[in-house]
Amino acid sequence: MRSPCLLLFFSFFLLLLLSLSSSSPNDRQVYIIYFGEHKGAKTVQEIEETHHSTLLSVKNSQEEGRESLLYSYKHSINGFAALLTSDEASILSEMEEVVSVFPSRANTWSLQTTRSWGFIEELEGVSLKKSNHLRRRAKYGKDIIVGLLDSGIWPESRSFSDYGMGPVPKSWKGICQAGEAFNSSHCNKKLIGARYYLKAYEAYYGRLNTTNEYRSPRDHDGHGTHTSSTVGGRRVHGMSALGGFAYGNASGGAPLVRLAMYKVCWPIPGGDPALENTCFEADMLSAMDDALADGVDVLSISIGTSGTPPKYPEDGIAMGALHAVKRNVVVACSAGNSGPTPATASNLAPWIITVGASSVDRVFTSPVVLGNGMEIKGQTVTPYKLQDKFYPLVYAANAVVPGTPKNISAGQCTPGSLDPNKVEGKIVFCLRGNGPRVGKGMEVKRAGGAAVILGNLPANGAEISVDPNVLPGTAVVSDDAIAILNYINSTRTPTAKIIPAKTVLDVKEAPFMAAFSSKGPNALDPNILKPDITAPGLNILAAWSEVSPPTKLASDPRRVKYNLLSGTSMSCPHVAAAAAIVKAMYPHWSAAAIRSALMTTATVINNARKPLADASGSIAGPFNYGSGHLRPVHALDPGLVYDASYTDYLTYLCTTTTGTKFDSSFNCPAHPISPTNLNHPSIAIPNLNGTLTVKRTVTNAGTGRSMYSVTITPPFGVSVEISPKILKFSQVGEKKSFKVTLKAKSGNEGAEDKKGEYVFGSYEWRDGMHVVRSPMAVSIAN
Ligand SMILES: *[C@@H]1O[C@H](CO)[C@@H](O)[C@H](O)[C@H]1NC(C)=O
Ligand SMILES: *[C@@H]1O[C@H](CO)[C@@H](O)[C@H](O)[C@H]1NC(C)=O
Ligand SMILES: *[C@@H]1O[C@H](CO)[C@@H](O)[C@H](O)[C@H]1NC(C)=O
Ligand SMILES: *[C@@H]1O[C@H](CO)[C@@H](O)[C@H](O)[C@H]1NC(C)=O
Ligand SMILES: *[C@@H]1O[C@H](CO)[C@@H](O)[C@H](O)[C@H]1NC(C)=O
Ligand SMILES: *[C@@H]1O[C@H](CO)[C@@H](O)[C@H](O)[C@H]1NC(C)=O
Repeated sequence: MRSPCLLLFFSFFLLLLLSLSSSSPNDRQVYIIYFGEHKGAKTVQEIEETHHSTLLSVKNSQEEGRESLLYSYKHSINGFAALLTSDEASILSEMEEVVSVFPSRANTWSLQTTRSWGFIEELEGVSLKKSNHLRRRAKYGKDIIVGLLDSGIWPESRSFSDYGMGPVPKSWKGICQAGEAFNSSHCNKKLIGARYYLKAYEAYYGRLNTTNEYRSPRDHDGHGTHTSSTVGGRRVHGMSALGGFAYGNASGGAPLVRLAMYKVCWPIPGGDPALENTCFEADMLSAMDDALADGVDVLSISIGTSGTPPKYPEDGIAMGALHAVKRNVVVACSAGNSGPTPATASNLAPWIITVGASSVDRVFTSPVVLGNGMEIKGQTVTPYKLQDKFYPLVYAANAVVPGTPKNISAGQCTPGSLDPNKVEGKIVFCLRGNGPRVGKGMEVKRAGGAAVILGNLPANGAEISVDPNVLPGTAVVSDDAIAILNYINSTRTPTAKIIPAKTVLDVKEAPFMAAFSSKGPNALDPNILKPDITAPGLNILAAWSEVSPPTKLASDPRRVKYNLLSGTSMSCPHVAAAAAIVKAMYPHWSAAAIRSALMTTATVINNARKPLADASGSIAGPFNYGSGHLRPVHALDPGLVYDASYTDYLTYLCTTTTGTKFDSSFNCPAHPISPTNLNHPSIAIPNLNGTLTVKRTVTNAGTGRSMYSVTITPPFGVSVEISPKILKFSQVGEKKSFKVTLKAKSGNEGAEDKKGEYVFGSYEWRDGMHVVRSPMAVSIAN
């Protein structure tokens, strides 16, 4: 039996694939037995008893049942997690009440900030006065509670100070769970809750090794501290990364929100701490069950699956999020760091906000000057400097220990690969790939090199994730990597110098999409466009665990309070913060309405007034960024919203999954409704054959009377008609429906070329004040 894998979308964006496989059918593993919503009114004890007796139906004794039960999900989610053989699991999956039975996968993370919020402000293009006015009305997210599923939190960080904050909201029912180096006094009026979950982790790996981890909500890793401070960190003056980079006043996106940490991610024993963390689905479901009962308003989950996406009923994050949406809790998740390969986006359920990652307008320049006088752009946040003179330069592949195969890995400075005799005192040029970037600098240092230049592979394009190297160094884009190699080849005595790094702001063109950001089309249901939106995720500065090195390399003795990281893990909390602010302004809006406000107000234009590009400089599209780049101030005044209820999502599930029975109070309609008609703020049509009509409904969220007219930018080779073309509203909350008819143009040369490929367009409703934009992605049937 092979189960798919779950991933935290990690800093340094290297994903770990962990395959849980059992060699014999008698091997037990953790399964989730999922019943959907609770049926009727039952006490927590009654629910637990039901779970227990269900489990006993496949176990030999009370004792065996008790010992194998890990969790009873009993507050919002109905189900349990237990150690089962595959036979026992398959018996349970045949029970009538059961929605799904699936192995608890090991997820990993696609695992803040001085600049990203200021930059977003610029993209908004609204006056400071209007922006401040709207933010004040939204009270900077005051009293909205954002829960995070992550690696824990470093509560002493200044970002989590509760100075001047009012009492904890009365609605809050959560706790501050004590554990190693963590007790109730580590929570405050900012960090109002903290819990930890590791039963499924320990069922798989055995008891947690506490040498480099806390058995408590305290963050050893740093990831959870980073994401938490990005959502809701207080304003901290004069903060910077190691070496003074990115200096400025840091603040989270919604500085007055309350935070609750649900620690679900733990290190893999014997793994490389720089990369390997894991978050078990059974632990995550328990965290979500508690978070919803505790009273969170928004959930930020920088965790996802990689590889083949599981079907919705067998996807713990998707199911937990559906329970959340029923309770009007917004769920933002990272899209993943598996780009630029197409169809890699994870967290694909339409009720989740799926977030891609893009750059900000800040670079850390540290150019290389070659011996021939050529100057090459470089970027780094390395806090060490070389002397101002030329050093001998060597390509790593020409300096490997004798006997190393001369394959592509030879130039990648993998541990133990370099020959000290050949690199001593030199600048070593290494290529990316095979292991963490900072590990390559570590290898150069080990072998006695003076500095490292890290070259992008063509797949990395022009995107540089800056690193606090352990020795002087910088990093260059792929075109420049080739130029350096050509120079090394052209001379017997290559030399170079590295100019020390400095922070440069207002860089044009920004944002561009990060190459690592996972892409559409949606591998699970191509009728739903994913990702939904993009937000800053490249070189983001935020708070950090004070016991974790900035590089996360075990051999790095440095410690920092703030650190720069990249990943969709970093962009997801930006969107969670924006959702919290919208929620503060419109407390009664559904999760779908809030998502719609964020999506329809996003921009596809960069700060040079050009279309958003990808890391290689090509024009990006909805499969990179969904609706575009987040603009939270615009989202506070969206004009119209595409609303969808919990029932709409259940109806959608009727069309895509057979025999769904999430909620016994709901019956699937006799005639299934096409998934394209889910009232999503975007349109995706795979294999358009002839003509297709899609229905959408908008709700007036503006000021009473208004009249909107539509502008269409059809995808190439597709004609699009919208009817009616004008929508008149007389009051707030009024709904109007319209039809979008898409037709593949025939006899059109261009359309012929595009068969099977996706083409993109958009339509916009405008009333003179608001622009409500929806992207369209269409492929024409072959
Ligand atoms: C919590 O731990 C701190 C030390 O980290 C200690 O000073 C404090 O008294 C403890 N508080 C409680 C309530 O135990
Ligand atoms: C716990 O981790 C430390 C540090 O990685 C290691 O030295 C030790 O052997 C581990 N202990 C066990 C019981 O695995
Ligand atoms: C940070 O905030 C302080 C006080 O509000 C202000 O004087 C300073 O200019 C700010 N610094 C930056 C880099 O924005
Ligand atoms: C290159 O050689 C190393 C060492 O033998 C090996 O581990 C690696 O897999 C090889 N890489 C490729 C791409 O063949
Ligand atoms: C450099 O020269 C070597 C042979 O000496 C060749 O294999 C390699 O492709 C050259 N690299 C570049 C970038 O020209
Ligand atoms: C398109 O629809 C026509 C008529 O329904 C059908 O005959 C044809 O096979 C379809 N083509 C594709 C590629 O699905």
